[in-house]
Amino acid sequence: MTDSRSYGYTDTLSAEHYARALRADIRDGLARTPKTTAPKWFYDAWGSELFEQITQLPEYPVWRAELGLLQLHAHDIAVRTGARSLTELGSGSSTKTKLIIEALGSKGLRYVPVDVSADALHQASTQLVQEYPGIIVHALRADFTAPLVLPEPPGDEPRLIAFLGSTLGNFRQPVRGPFLEGLRSIMRPEDHLLIGADLVKDEREMLAAYDDSQGVTSEFDKHLLQVLNRELDADFDPDSFDHVSVWNSAERHIEMRLRSRVEQRVKIRELDLAVYFALGEEWITESSAKFTTDGLQAELAAAGLRTDQLWSDTGAGFALVLATAR
Ligand code: AVJ
Repeated sequence: MTDSRSYGYTDTLSAEHYARALRADIRDGLARTPKTTAPKWFYDAWGSELFEQITQLPEYPVWRAELGLLQLHAHDIAVRTGARSLTELGSGSSTKTKLIIEALGSKGLRYVPVDVSADALHQASTQLVQEYPGIIVHALRADFTAPLVLPEPPGDEPRLIAFLGSTLGNFRQPVRGPFLEGLRSIMRPEDHLLIGADLVKDEREMLAAYDDSQGVTSEFDKHLLQVLNRELDADFDPDSFDHVSVWNSAERHIEMRLRSRVEQRVKIRELDLAVYFALGEEWITESSAKFTTDGLQAELAAAGLRTDQLWSDTGAGFALVLATAR
């Protein structure tokens, strides 16, 4: 298509790739003690929609805090990076990204949203090309927890890689280092990395952010069971699990867990497996690290990423870090 309102789309996650990765992750994860699976499996169309609802909850300040920081500093980010190419990891609805796109100037800007959710990518891309004529959108459906191959920006135009929403926190400490090193290895001297990170704050506030009074987070957590029922022909009964959020102070992350309300054996036919859950057994479905500004900069430095500028919102406890690989 050559219409100016079209966008490019590359899908690196074939149906087989997706199914294989899901089977392997769920088989391994449910064999661990405690049972622990990766959060990327939440994000089918409905899971992505539920996450959008979470961002609007009064108890979930993470999303608004970052929005506020971007409103204040997008212009500075544009000046400091001079980027003509913007890559976003875990782009979801791309709502906040619009602030960066507008600050950089949308005309001729190359935007590469990267996400596991095909639906989120299609929706966001369609909307962006309509809203910003002249923007060049190339959506990439990919799993960025695996080594990333990004389309090369043509020539030597500076690129900004944005990793917002504190999604970095979904990586556990031992894999954050190698992940950041991987990003550094694809950055050229003129490129920048922008990371949004939620900061450690009052424990009750952090817990409430992952266990809201309307039960949206609980629905999100249990949605994983529906994904597994559909994709792996399993027979999880969402009513037989409770959603709980736990602060793991040793690893400094919030965990979402599904706690079995009964002793049960759940069939996962695609895996030829019957998984045993003891009464009260907890399965970690997501961990979400909370950072300190010093700790985050130290982790970046250890991966060879130098902080160019850090903006933080001490009230809401969120930080944006702009870093280079120089
Ligand atoms: C967007 C993945 C960073 O961990 O805060 C929100 C996801 N899970 N509520 C987070 C999430 C439950 C969110 N991330």
